[in-house]
Order: sequence, then C-alpha cells, then structure tokens
Amino acid sequence: MSNLPLSYKIKAVEPINLLPKEERLSALERVGFNPFLLKSEEVYIDLLTDSGTGAMSQNQWAAMMKGDESYAGSTSFYKLEEAVDDIFQYQYTIPVHQGRGAEQILFPVLIEKMKMKRGGTKPVFISNYHFDTTAAHVELNGAKAVNVVVEEAYTLTEPFDWKGNFDLEQLVGHIELNGSENVAAIIITVTCNSMGGQPVSLENIKAVYDIAKEYGIPVVMDAARFAENAYFIKQREEKYSGWSIAEIVKEMFQYADMFTMSAKKDAMVNIGGLCCFKDNEDLYRSSQALCIPMEGFATYGGMAGRDLEALAVGLYEAMDYGYLSARIHQVNRLAQKLTDAGIPVQKPTGGHAVFIDAKAFLPHISVDEFPGHALANALYLEGGIRSAEIGSLLLGRDPTTGIQKASPLELLRLAIPRRTYTNEHLDYVAESLIKLKKNRRKISGYRFTYEPVVLRHFLAQFEPAL
Ligand code: F0G
Repeated sequence: MSNLPLSYKIKAVEPINLLPKEERLSALERVGFNPFLLKSEEVYIDLLTDSGTGAMSQNQWAAMMKGDESYAGSTSFYKLEEAVDDIFQYQYTIPVHQGRGAEQILFPVLIEKMKMKRGGTKPVFISNYHFDTTAAHVELNGAKAVNVVVEEAYTLTEPFDWKGNFDLEQLVGHIELNGSENVAAIIITVTCNSMGGQPVSLENIKAVYDIAKEYGIPVVMDAARFAENAYFIKQREEKYSGWSIAEIVKEMFQYADMFTMSAKKDAMVNIGGLCCFKDNEDLYRSSQALCIPMEGFATYGGMAGRDLEALAVGLYEAMDYGYLSARIHQVNRLAQKLTDAGIPVQKPTGGHAVFIDAKAFLPHISVDEFPGHALANALYLEGGIRSAEIGSLLLGRDPTTGIQKASPLELLRLAIPRRTYTNEHLDYVAESLIKLKKNRRKISGYRFTYEPVVLRHFLAQFEPAL
C-alpha cells in the first residue's frame, strides 16, 4: 500500500504564489518578524497548522448542498449524531464551533459536578499533554493542568513507538498527591499534538482508563487526531495489526467516558467540533445547557447545517486506510529527506507534522533569542514557507514571577494540511531547509519589540538580535 500513489485525484485547484525575496523580507518587516501576522497571500506553502486547512472531498462538498439550516432539529444534526453513534458508539452528541468550544462547555461542568459531589479544593486535570487552548480552558476555570507524558517523549531522537503515552506511575502519583476527589478529569490526547503528534497505544489507553475507574475519575478523550492514532496502533501494536481502523477506533473510545474533538483536523472540515458522551446523561444534559448560551442551540452548536453534513462524511473519510497510509507516509517522507540531509528532526515522526530540533540546527542562538522562531523566519525568507515555533516563545512566562518558563525543547513545527499539498511541494520545503542549513550561521535570533501578556506568540513583534 505504501508504494501506491494518492487514493484521490485533484478536481478543484487553488493558485498559490511565491513572492520575490525582497517582498518576503518587507512583508516580514511589516509584521514585526512574526509569521502569524502575515497575510496568507504572502505565503507560498503554509505549514502553520493542520487545523481547518485540509481539502474537502467531493462527497463532503456534495453533502453540504443537503445542509438543513433549521435553527432547531436540523436533519443534518441527526445525520451527524448517527455517524457519532456508529463510529464511536457514544449516545450523546453536541456539535460545537471547534475544539475549544467543546472545552468551554465541558470543563466547567466537570468541575461543578466534582464540587457538588465532593466539595474539593483547586481542581486538577491530568493529561498526557494538554494542548495549549486545553490548558488555557483548564486555567480559565480556576483549575490546574498537569502533564504526565512518558520520559521518552523528551528525547528527540530516541526510537520509541509511543511517545504520546502516559507515564502511569506519574499519573497515579499525581492522583495520590492531589487526592482523587480533586481530579476533575483525565484527558487522553490522541495523538499527542504537543509532543509531536505522537501516538498513544491502546494498552496505555486501557491502563489509564483502569486507573481512572479505580479512583472514580472521568476520562475525556481529546480526539482531534483519532484516526491517525488508530493508524499507528494498527502499524505498531501487534495485537491490532489485523483490525480495521474503524474497529480500532471503536475499541479506543470504549476506554473513555466522553470526548472533545476539534473536527478541523482528522475529520477534515474547515470549521467544527464535537462534545460527545458515551452514556453519562447527567454530564451531557449539563453541557448541553451550557452549549446554548456559549455556542448555539443544542442541534447546531455554532455550526451551519452544511458544516454538520460535511463533518458527518469527514468522520468516515478520516478512517480510510488508503488515505491514512498515504498521509502518514507523506509526513514521514519529508522527515526522511531532512534526516538524510543531516537536519535534526524528531524520531519517529508523528502523524500530522515534522518537528525540527531548532536548538540543534541553530546552536549559536541562545534560548532567550528563540531559535525555533528564528528558523521560522529564515524559512519564510528562504522559500515563502510558513511554520510555527513550539518552544520558549510559545511557552511564555510564569504569570506570577514573570520569568520565562524553561522549555524542554526548542522546535519548529512543519504541520502538514490533509490532502492539500503534493510530495513535490514538500520536496521544495525540504530543499529550502537544506539551503538554509548551508548558511545557518548567518541566521540571527530575535528579541521582542512588543510582548503581549497572554498567548504572546500570536501577536508579538520582534527585531533581529544582531
Ligand atoms: N486539542 C488538540 C489536541 C489540538 O491540537 C487543538 C488544536 C485543540 C484541542 C483545539 O481545537 O483549534 O478546533 O479549537 N490545534 C491546532 C493546532 C490549532 O495547530 O495544533 P480548535
């Protein structure tokens, strides 16, 4: 299967344009050397994110024509509900505008139920690794986010199949330390985005669920990249090699009580999300009640009827083995090209992105001058390619002391949108990085000219630290 070309052909095309180098430089100067602030028309190949940037299929577009835009009781909602029940075997479905919409209607409910039952103190959420908006919603609700991913995740080149796994000892340790009555939920993020889109094994998912049940803690699956995770399980966990992706997905979701999903990733819609419950009617009803003021009425939750339709189709397409195999191979192929050229990347490669070790690539740039961000700017100047730093800049300062938090890694993320770019596009990305490598000593770090207090990486401005 891996040698076959893509399992689709291209029907609609969107022109992209590479600006001349001088114009790329003036664009970057204009936005204070923050690629987030570029206009998309100034970008040739956009690897900023794999979120909402995938190409929809003809079946998704066709389904959109059937969108029922009724405010309440839309036929499109019932189709989506049926798809969720069929794929995940979860009884209750709430559509939301995107992943963080699910977080904002679920987390307060989890905390409230916990207080009602147990009168706890500061609630804690424990995850393999909270995505940044997930951690933000935990903190906005007055709770604490604790990450307990396995040690191997922090070693970039160590060959380990499950760098998204929970460290089970640490998980139990934190439950004991905080008291199980103070743990609002355990969040299993599949794949583990912040650790490089690395998978979580089914064995680990089951073990986490067993521990949670023993302590009476609810389990939430953060399911943005559920199908990519299932693909890795099929490839790497021998017991499941003969299972279909759909069977593995069903099995994975047995070991959670509810899931939040940014449908902008694996489900390949440009906007949309889900908040679903296996059978807990009480949590469902309370989140549904919160959905109405926060997101929209319970049968549309911030999505147009046509988007509900596209999502119902996309959830199935996400699990197509031929597509998944081509996608994961495409990501891996880019990583291999970089490795062959001596560019340090995370290994093994995760599902949705290639992560470059910016600290190793630019050893002359100190951490406080943001090597990952410096590499992002250099890559834009070199090839019109947009990417994102995952390191000290993203991590930010400790809110109480104002001191920069110590980031374990300084990475550049090349996130690959689904079904959007060809291997030729990605070869060009590899070539641009290889060119940069030759002149890397000339790349400088950056210092702030404007530093927002919260989520600074989105809006900050910089100057080269020459
Ligand atoms: N959870 C995970 C694991 C994510 O990767 C994201 C988004 C979210 C939740 C939030 O979902 O954006 O739909 O509100 N990740 C994107 C990224 C933005 O670029 O990795 P959202």
